[in-house]
Amino acid sequence: MNWFQNWMLPKAAATHAGDVDGLYMFIVYLTIFFFFFNGALILYAVRKWRRRSAKEVTPHITHNTKMELIWSIIPLFVVMGIFFWGFKGYVKAWVPPNDSMEIVVTAKKWVWQFEYPDGTRTLNDLHVPLNKPVKLVMHSEDVIHSFFVPSFRLKRDVIPGRYTELWFTPTEPGVQQVFCAEYCGKGHSDMMARIFVDTPEQYETFLREGDEQVRKMPLKDLGKLVYENKGCATCHSLDGTRGQGPSWKGIWGETGKGADGKPYTVDANYIRQSVLQPQAVVVQGFEPIMPTFQGLLREREILGVIEFIKSVK
Ligand code: CUA
Repeated sequence: MNWFQNWMLPKAAATHAGDVDGLYMFIVYLTIFFFFFNGALILYAVRKWRRRSAKEVTPHITHNTKMELIWSIIPLFVVMGIFFWGFKGYVKAWVPPNDSMEIVVTAKKWVWQFEYPDGTRTLNDLHVPLNKPVKLVMHSEDVIHSFFVPSFRLKRDVIPGRYTELWFTPTEPGVQQVFCAEYCGKGHSDMMARIFVDTPEQYETFLREGDEQVRKMPLKDLGKLVYENKGCATCHSLDGTRGQGPSWKGIWGETGKGADGKPYTVDANYIRQSVLQPQAVVVQGFEPIMPTFQGLLREREILGVIEFIKSVK
């Protein structure tokens, strides 16, 4: 019946996911069993005690002690078993081991930001070493979001003004998908992140230089990647459509006026400033809602964004 589980659930990729799946599948099979068992009993009773003539009168039935005891005591043991099984898994899933690595997660409309113990920060991409326990300390800068990793069988709300925690030990190398599972506004369905489960060497290299892709890519392609992965796409369109922020289509070299009337020209310095201090010049007609990317983009990534904007015509 493994195909059945694989069809219903994504492949488990963290240590305690097996516990969750075991209990979950047990309940599913138990439900399927009782669906057919109860159905069969009903059919049997309908056939056996059906009214055979119009004169037949149902006798007065009060109760049946033996049957009532059976259908109370057996389910009691079954549900108590489920409770203790679930409680054990719950405690294991919520209490992180003492040696876990701590990563701070900040959620804001509509990006996930990760901060590592050495101060490295990334947006929407979380790198973790394989087989090492990781604890996420999460908070939100605006509304309630929810950090959901289906393949880890983990989900927890991320709340403004409070820290919530989540921990896991990844057991499968590769990429895992993260979703925001609490409706948080227009960009909610785009608020996704990826967890890269690295070997220890890959993880070290990542902390030092950023991922491989970033180091070797041509600037324009790197800029496109930043646009797609770091949340720019949530607000800035490439086809001239008006979003939460101005479209990037054909803006290179354009001149205009900021909300305070100051003129600006879209050149390399303007783009750099808009990325690092987005409130310095807010284009007229737009809200000052862009978060700063200070410390979140490497120098080469900012150059990439500039090259990419030049290419959007
Ligand atoms: Cu953040 Cu939905």
